[in-house]
Amino acid sequence: MKNIDPGMKNIDSFTHARGESIYLDDMPLLEGTLFGAAFGSPEAHGKVLHLDLSEAEKMKDVVRIFTYKDIPGINQIGGIVPDELLLAENLLHFNGMPVAFVVAKSVKAAQAAIKKIKIDIEPLHIITDPREAKEKGELIIPPRTFKIGNTETAWQQCQHIFEGTAETNGQEHLYIETQGAYTLPLEHGTIKVYSSTQGPTAVQRHMAVVLNIPMHRLEVEVTRLGGGFGGKEDQATSWAILCALATYHLKKPVKYSLHRLEDMRMTGKRNPYSSDFKIGLDKNLNILAYEATFYQNAGAAADLSPAVLERTLFHCTNSYFVPNVSATAFCCRTNLPPNTAFRGFGGPQGMFVIEAAIAKAADELGIPAYKIQKKNLLKTGDEFPYGQKAASEANECWNKAEQLYEIDKIEREVAAFNSTNILFKKGISFMPVCFGISFTKTLMNQARALVHVYTDGSVGVSTGAVEMGQGVNTKMLQVAASMFSVDPSKVKIHSTNTFRIANTSPSAASATADLNGKAVQIACKAIIERLKPVAAEMLQTNQEAIQIKNEFVWTGNKQTDLTWQQLVLTAYIKRISLSEHAHYSTPQINFDASIEKGHPFAYHVFGTAITIVTVDCLRGIYEVDAVKIVHDFGSTMNTIIDRGQIEGGLVQGIGWMTMEEIVFDKEGTLRSNALSTYKVPDIYSVPKIIDLHFLETSKDNLAIMRSKAVGEPPLMYGIGAFFAIRNAIKEFNPTATPAFSAPITPEKVLLSLYSKSYKGSQPESFKALIKEHE
Ligand code: MOS
Repeated sequence: MKNIDPGMKNIDSFTHARGESIYLDDMPLLEGTLFGAAFGSPEAHGKVLHLDLSEAEKMKDVVRIFTYKDIPGINQIGGIVPDELLLAENLLHFNGMPVAFVVAKSVKAAQAAIKKIKIDIEPLHIITDPREAKEKGELIIPPRTFKIGNTETAWQQCQHIFEGTAETNGQEHLYIETQGAYTLPLEHGTIKVYSSTQGPTAVQRHMAVVLNIPMHRLEVEVTRLGGGFGGKEDQATSWAILCALATYHLKKPVKYSLHRLEDMRMTGKRNPYSSDFKIGLDKNLNILAYEATFYQNAGAAADLSPAVLERTLFHCTNSYFVPNVSATAFCCRTNLPPNTAFRGFGGPQGMFVIEAAIAKAADELGIPAYKIQKKNLLKTGDEFPYGQKAASEANECWNKAEQLYEIDKIEREVAAFNSTNILFKKGISFMPVCFGISFTKTLMNQARALVHVYTDGSVGVSTGAVEMGQGVNTKMLQVAASMFSVDPSKVKIHSTNTFRIANTSPSAASATADLNGKAVQIACKAIIERLKPVAAEMLQTNQEAIQIKNEFVWTGNKQTDLTWQQLVLTAYIKRISLSEHAHYSTPQINFDASIEKGHPFAYHVFGTAITIVTVDCLRGIYEVDAVKIVHDFGSTMNTIIDRGQIEGGLVQGIGWMTMEEIVFDKEGTLRSNALSTYKVPDIYSVPKIIDLHFLETSKDNLAIMRSKAVGEPPLMYGIGAFFAIRNAIKEFNPTATPAFSAPITPEKVLLSLYSKSYKGSQPESFKALIKEHE
């Protein structure tokens, strides 16, 4: 095995930059391809009285319009709970819920026909608020509670007890490539599906049910995705099945690539949460007790919300040890598009609440929050509310960040700035993160890889991993190249395809590189073990002495003349298999949901971010000056990709916490339905400085090549921006108590700066300044 090059570039960077990467919409279309478009319910809740397709059907170039009546199998696509229809029958549960699928000879014709569909609806009461849903008993699954210790008795030992509420809004995935699929009819009732999905098997499995076709006749092929972020873990399925339904009936290729406005309207987003907290501390600032109640806005169907909710509970104490915890979560059904996975998968929503509780305690006690945070960081052996014990110290990253970034100096500079500036104030926050790696559903922690060595010595690798921009293909290539000790150019990572790799778990939970990479390792090892005896025979030595290094065979520690390619070819001539299909399942993990205890995670990722912001106290706008991170990578296998994940995750987290504001009106209509009304971070809103220190830890772990998972954890560093802005507001208006309601948009900042209690922190100089400007 050869050492990998942690400085290797993403193998896709050239084709991306040149526009040569092939996304779904870049595929050349077959002759006779038809184009689909979904007609979504115009109302959020109601009964269908009459659906009139007649005018739409008469439109030029319209081939056929499908409804639930055309489904040959079962009209059901619910993954965790069977509560979601592919096409609405008599009830409509959210605005945008697919009702009919138009297929036409052009995209234009399909879209034009959509406008001619008429529907009469008897309106029903619309719920958009999860607390109202809970009141009315609209729960998708029974509530779940994670507990450790006994909060009831612990309150009596607390010197300080604080209560409050915290709200986090949803978040649009805004993958650059929208949802879409392209389906082709093949022989013997087989359908080939090109899908922009994180979960090819989910597409295949649900399609099998809806079309009543066995899975072995449904080939789902994924080349690459222009971003997923969780939005294509479950929600790529409907579009693929709609196309397949039309292909099934018409025996024609059918394509549907959603327009951005359709995508924003019809797909679910990050789950918004409304939560209550109660926190108790002793006189030394140890958190003795914590209670939280989470009202998760699941939308109109379960989708992945029950699993998202579970991860909220897993991460409800973030990076802290709390001996007495009771956390309950409600999965609330509302009339919004079914909400779903989004980077962090409920973890960020849970962490925000305990950070709010700590900030509230700090407000009331008149101390900076970091004093409470630092005091309560997890230590090795501390038990999480779900029974697993921490295997590392959270203060490793925290302390390193304090020293490396000279927190004392930062504090002095910020204090100096704040004392000399009236209209601009700076704020600082710490955001420690502890994130568990593994699917919380234990059975999903398995993966397979298929490795072929060809007779010219080149290597082809297929896995269940989906490349969505996160760089997993580069990591898979690094694994195979290092195992065989061949040049990276000798390895090709192939598309993800359900005929080559079956029963895949979605590329999600930050676990894709670990699971699939380990499977690649196992496959490569098996091939190497078969090559060694061949080499030993050729070199007349014993196979224990054989090593394959840099495309040569070595014996003892000496390079021979026997090349990798000669060895491979000889093995082939001797009829030795040069292919291997391998399986990996994560060891040690378990979880018993009946008692809510176990060891669900292979390991945890730790990190700490220090965030410094400047708020413009006249306008309420702000800038993130710097985010300084120490992140525990174990031992990174690719610094460029890992840095990209950290920076991207951070900025996405800051967007969620500060500017991305999803607005549904009371009728359940999405108001922030376009890029003109939904603001995502652009180049001007990213932090001016992002410092990243790669903390290398020597402890063994279950990560691929000890390189810890990096997909989701950095998103939660973005939570630091919320609290830094909040601290800056309090510098201007010490009486302000900005609500724990994210995103903290400039409007909210302005209202807090001049809240009713505002007395003016520097009234005289402030007035003087205003006068000066008059
Ligand atoms: Mo990811 S949010 O686990 O698809």
